[in-house]
Amino acid sequence: MKQTLSINMAMSIDGKVARPDGRWYGLTSEADKRQMDNYRSKSDAIIVGKNSILNDNPRVKLKFVENAINPRPIILIRRGTLTPDKKIFEESDHIPLVICCKANKKEIEENLKNRVEIHALDSDDIDPKKVLGILSRLGYERILLEGGPKLNYAFLKQGLVNRIHITLVPFLIGMKTLPAIADGDSDLPDFDKKKWKLTSSIQEENEVFLTYENIE
Ligand SMILES: NC(=O)c1ccc[n+]([C@@H]2O[C@H](COP(=O)([O-])OP(=O)(O)OC[C@H]3O[C@@H](n4cnc5c(N)ncnc54)[C@H](OP(=O)(O)O)[C@@H]3O)[C@@H](O)[C@H]2O)c1
Repeated sequence: MKQTLSINMAMSIDGKVARPDGRWYGLTSEADKRQMDNYRSKSDAIIVGKNSILNDNPRVKLKFVENAINPRPIILIRRGTLTPDKKIFEESDHIPLVICCKANKKEIEENLKNRVEIHALDSDDIDPKKVLGILSRLGYERILLEGGPKLNYAFLKQGLVNRIHITLVPFLIGMKTLPAIADGDSDLPDFDKKKWKLTSSIQEENEVFLTYENIE
């Protein structure tokens, strides 16, 4: 089976994925949480960035899909570490895998001893291609990337994303400096030549669940 990478994000009507305080909470319905669990139940692993864990402390264990196997959390930490009080360390069925750089390996070992398995890259940055290579060698084929937007951008820039799930939530936030689904310093290569294909569009009450596929 070919490895596939799917992004899953919720977005306001005006395209923002964070509140003015830099966090994301309280703007999605229970239907979105069900849909999110549905995507997670079809995944072997979920990638989450350090910032999103620091800001949002997300729950990763499935709540709405019965008898599903929880995907394994994969945490990317380029600099520094996390503390062990986060839900991702307490609630997961699996020992999370932390992928980090050689410079912060020791700090992570000290802070998250016995809580995580650590894979330190021999570099100062985390190359998304290397992350997918590690996951492929571990047998993880269906990967869900749950952001945030900087991490999405890093994977999109290298052309590694096969599918994007977007939940459109019925709010306008307005502040111009807030990120969108992909938050980077430059445009994505050939963004105007690559057309994503809309493969599913479901309305539930006041929200729309969209799925776009990379057809190339
Ligand atoms: N609306 C939604 O569905 C949704 C979903 C997720 C997040 N969010 C929101 O988006 C906010 C902002 O997110 P953000 O963009 O600051 O967070 P982000 O994408 O989580 O930031 C990137 C994080 O990933 C790490 N990272 C590792 N390798 C990387 C690479 N190659 N390139 C980029 N980052 C790499 C960075 O580590 P270092 O810090 O160690 O460099 C950083 O902590 C979050 O706080 C959250 O509230 C919204």
